Amino acid sequence: MRNERKLVLVVDDEEDIRAILAETLDNLNFEYLTASDGDEAIACLDEHHDIIDVVICDLKMPRVSGDQVIVYGHEKYPLIPIIILTGFAQLDMALDHMRLGAFDYMTKPFRVKELLFILKRALERRQLQEEKISYQNTLEQRIEEATQALHNQVVQTVSSFILAIEAKDRYTQGHSKRVAEYAGLMAERLGLSKEEQANLIYAAQLHDIGKIGISEQLLNKPGRLNMVEFETIKTHPSKGVKILEPLDFLGHLLPAIEAHHEWFDGSGYPKGLARDKIPFLARIIAVCDTFDAMTSDRSYRKPLPIRVAVKEIQNGSGSQFDPQVVSVFIEMFKEILEPKMLSRKTSER
Ligand SMILES: [Fe+2]
Repeated sequence: MRNERKLVLVVDDEEDIRAILAETLDNLNFEYLTASDGDEAIACLDEHHDIIDVVICDLKMPRVSGDQVIVYGHEKYPLIPIIILTGFAQLDMALDHMRLGAFDYMTKPFRVKELLFILKRALERRQLQEEKISYQNTLEQRIEEATQALHNQVVQTVSSFILAIEAKDRYTQGHSKRVAEYAGLMAERLGLSKEEQANLIYAAQLHDIGKIGISEQLLNKPGRLNMVEFETIKTHPSKGVKILEPLDFLGHLLPAIEAHHEWFDGSGYPKGLARDKIPFLARIIAVCDTFDAMTSDRSYRKPLPIRVAVKEIQNGSGSQFDPQVVSVFIEMFKEILEPKMLSRKTSER
């Protein structure tokens, strides 16, 4: 609230009353504006609401009456207290108007002491409300800062986990980052909220964290895996969940991490979930993960050409992958990924 002389808007259709009030306010060291009816009062509020501290408003006025000013002012400028000025005969009405949002009422003819007392109370109430709003804003700002700090913490933790995964398996260096990049490019097209988009990117970055629990020899083994070895590799989604479980703030990502090798038709692992039983984020990660695995160098084979890999993804629609995710992937691939990967290849030559 401003500290200079407070400004009161006086609304009354009787010129004498406006003049008396104006003079009294001046003597009490207030500034004032006057309006001779409700229409003028509303126009004055709209124009000067940022400098008006209090309104004193008559009830009975031609055309737009005091109650309309109260309803309008209370709704549009709730911080400005409105004091009703009323005759004894209108006392019941004055009480009704307080229910409409007026701060208090004063009867005509008013006493200077009473006017000053009500004005002081109105200004105090206003100051309290302003302090409350400013406290709430500060609080909201602090919460936002704390959330941001937590967010940064998540990012740092995620980054160090990724380094740990990739340090073990030289063939997957950059894999988690690329899977997260592809997933991020699809997130908006799949209609995910901002929060889900962030969750998808974190889960995509962490999807193979469970590989920390698999031996390096097995991860880097050239050639095909035997059945026992493959069964060991298949434990990595559940191992990932076990590794991250103690971190409460990552708890919401676990279902997507655990299910990233589930197949849409139910023939995946570890649980054999199908269709909408597979978390949606996991269905997205599955497509991006497979595409990157096919297009990057592995211990047991050379990378597939990108168009062949896309064809493979398309072939897996409905069996390995969610058809909705596949169609969005193809769309994203054609528009963003293919031109980007081709230009990368050209620049590498
Ligand atoms: Fe995996």
